[in-house]
Amino acid sequence: MIILGIESSCDDTSVCLLDCSDKGFFVLSEKTASQIEVHKKYGGVVPEIAGRLHAEKIVPLIEEILIDQPRPDVIAVTAGPGLITGLIVGTEAARALSYAWNIPLVAVNHLEGHMYSVELSVNQKIEYPAIALVASGGHTEITLIKKPGEYELLGHTKDDAAGECFDKVAKLLNLPYPGGPQISKLAETGKIDAIDFPRPMMKDTNYDFSFSGLKTSALYWLQKNKGTVSENDFCASFEQAIVDVLVHKTIKAVKEINPKTLILAGGVSANKKLRETFTKIISQEYPETKFLFPELKNCMDNAAMIAVAGYYQAQKGNFTDWDKIKADPNWHLTN
Ligand code: KG4
Ligand code: ZN
Repeated sequence: MIILGIESSCDDTSVCLLDCSDKGFFVLSEKTASQIEVHKKYGGVVPEIAGRLHAEKIVPLIEEILIDQPRPDVIAVTAGPGLITGLIVGTEAARALSYAWNIPLVAVNHLEGHMYSVELSVNQKIEYPAIALVASGGHTEITLIKKPGEYELLGHTKDDAAGECFDKVAKLLNLPYPGGPQISKLAETGKIDAIDFPRPMMKDTNYDFSFSGLKTSALYWLQKNKGTVSENDFCASFEQAIVDVLVHKTIKAVKEINPKTLILAGGVSANKKLRETFTKIISQEYPETKFLFPELKNCMDNAAMIAVAGYYQAQKGNFTDWDKIKADPNWHLTN
């Protein structure tokens, strides 16, 4: 089955033609237009600008990836959650193509896409039940996937997302957007115990997160103590606080639920420290659990992961009529 994936929920316009079968996934063609350079000037994503840029790019990108390729059997599009300005562009393009080509349409949840991004790597297959930590600029959630398509939200952030916290603290340090990669690069040569940052909600019995207090404590620390430790030490200590909280809560879920697979996905899953910490704990303490994370290029928003999630929905016949598809900026995978 050949699936055209479309992703436009944030600041990447991404389209992909994915050859899908039970043996695995093969990218026939893929194009992503990143808007980062434009949003950088504003220190974050500006929804109106994002919408306009998605609208400019989406048709030329789809035309490009279809050159010398077969027509898709199914279209999979991100319908939410995300910025309404971008979601509308993607869902309208998908609606028009579904009608014009008379092919079925699948509405994909962006977070479900991130979870399936791990299956884009050769021989990485999710076994169920699985637990997924999706940490990105907009989300930080621990989800139990009982079987494909059956989700239970175990916990989520009460305020800022982990990636957002990286981005906001990077802004305090005058580092360019997005700040996660910048902070983790500086952190590589810093001391993790130079500053004792708080680990919000870490010892709570639930699976929820809160990162806004950590951001505020980083702000106060800088106002009072800037210059007393190196930027590398600051970044290493800050990164360690985020990693500790994410790992602690997720491992608690692994311990209690004993899943067959642990999935780490979303933009923050590109973080080396986070990957290494999970790899170590899982291999030493939970060797029966398979730990999957995406290749670096698939951590960020991309249409291939949307096509994978769309494939599983299509197999179950979960299609949406072209005249019924609707962008839903607050679409919760589970309630
Ligand atoms: O999934 P994504 O591309 O977009 C959203 O759906 O939000 O995630 C982007 C987020 C940004 O907040 C960025 O700072 C963060 O992922 N990020 C990282 C790293 N690479 C990207 N955070 C920490 N360490 C990294 N290496
Ligand atoms: Zn994302």
